[in-house]
Amino acid sequence: MATIAEAPLSFASLPHPAPTPADVRASILANPGFGTQFTDHMVVIEWTEGQGWHDATLGPRGPIALDPAASVLHYAQEIFEGLKAYAHADGSVALFRPEANAQRFNASAQRLAMPELPEELFVEAVKRLVLADREWIPAQEGASLYLRPFMIATEAFLGVRAAKQYKFIVIASPAGNYFKSGAPAVSIWVSDYTRAAPGGTGAAKCGGNYAASLVPTAEAFARGHDQVLFLDAAEHKWVEELGGMNLFFGFEDGSLLTPPLAGTILPGITRASLIQLAREEGLTVREERYSIDQWREDAASGRLLETFACGTAAVVTPVGKVASPDGSSFTIGSGGPGQTTAKLKDRLVAIQRGQAPDPHGWVVKI
Ligand code: PLP
Ligand code: COI
Repeated sequence: MATIAEAPLSFASLPHPAPTPADVRASILANPGFGTQFTDHMVVIEWTEGQGWHDATLGPRGPIALDPAASVLHYAQEIFEGLKAYAHADGSVALFRPEANAQRFNASAQRLAMPELPEELFVEAVKRLVLADREWIPAQEGASLYLRPFMIATEAFLGVRAAKQYKFIVIASPAGNYFKSGAPAVSIWVSDYTRAAPGGTGAAKCGGNYAASLVPTAEAFARGHDQVLFLDAAEHKWVEELGGMNLFFGFEDGSLLTPPLAGTILPGITRASLIQLAREEGLTVREERYSIDQWREDAASGRLLETFACGTAAVVTPVGKVASPDGSSFTIGSGGPGQTTAKLKDRLVAIQRGQAPDPHGWVVKI
């Protein structure tokens, strides 16, 4: 079904009639929050069956016209990615592993019966947007420009089948900390709901997975927690992942464990990077199932010292407390960041921000 554009696309640049004034932008960048402020531009590329990818534009960010019968509005044919651009101290701008996002985007596209986008085109679209909105990258520690490539089915057709028309769009949002609380560690709520079942869409980054997580997330927030944790669908026993992050567990013998990629969790790029960095530090990392009961027991006995969440938005965030609907809860370690968590976060962030060598070639300068 995928049609790959044979020749590189040329991007038309549309003029911006009224970019954000510099002083307004500066005040947004001083305290960007997460996901509420947007840059001036966006990239749009169209796909039509029989024609492939065409009409690439870099233009002003703004509303898009959609027919009310567009498939995305009815059957949720939508996928997205999340990656960041960093301002390095030498004045350059860098992306972190964008081709890994491009690959995952295509894996999601396959699962949602959508056309694949050539990886180079995905990366080029992201780069063009970052260059156009270069002035929107916050420079302070912990801040970056969050990039959101996504694809929607735009064909006006109410029969249930894969659409024949799509739009790929990239928008950008200056970002600070994902978690507002600023607490040293987050608290998580173990949901009774299920996020993904075997054979479902759990490994794809599609909007539908997040729609299904909103009630559980609202429950977590209502009880004062920061994120929701999902267990497996079959036994409701094995730890899978959070609403928007993967999980790692750190033990007293220095080893780490993270749930395996068995089709129901998102294959996080941060997760993959941390596994590699940890192994290079000489740590044993196991990709194995871990039950909620074992977790509770290990936290109580002191065998488990640390737990952290990781993802593009959350970077590396310690988990301090876990609460369940049966009223039980437990604390991990001291309830704050553990040593291995802090060390791995520092290693990763230093590479992303150009403060440490990049032996893996993960950093892509624009
Ligand atoms: N799991 C879920 C459900 C996510 O939404 C994310 C964020 O993208 C992740 C894990 C972490 O993935 P990554 O590290 O590629 O951002
Ligand atoms: C990301 O980390 O990029 C995500 O998509 C997760 C979401 C919580 C913002």
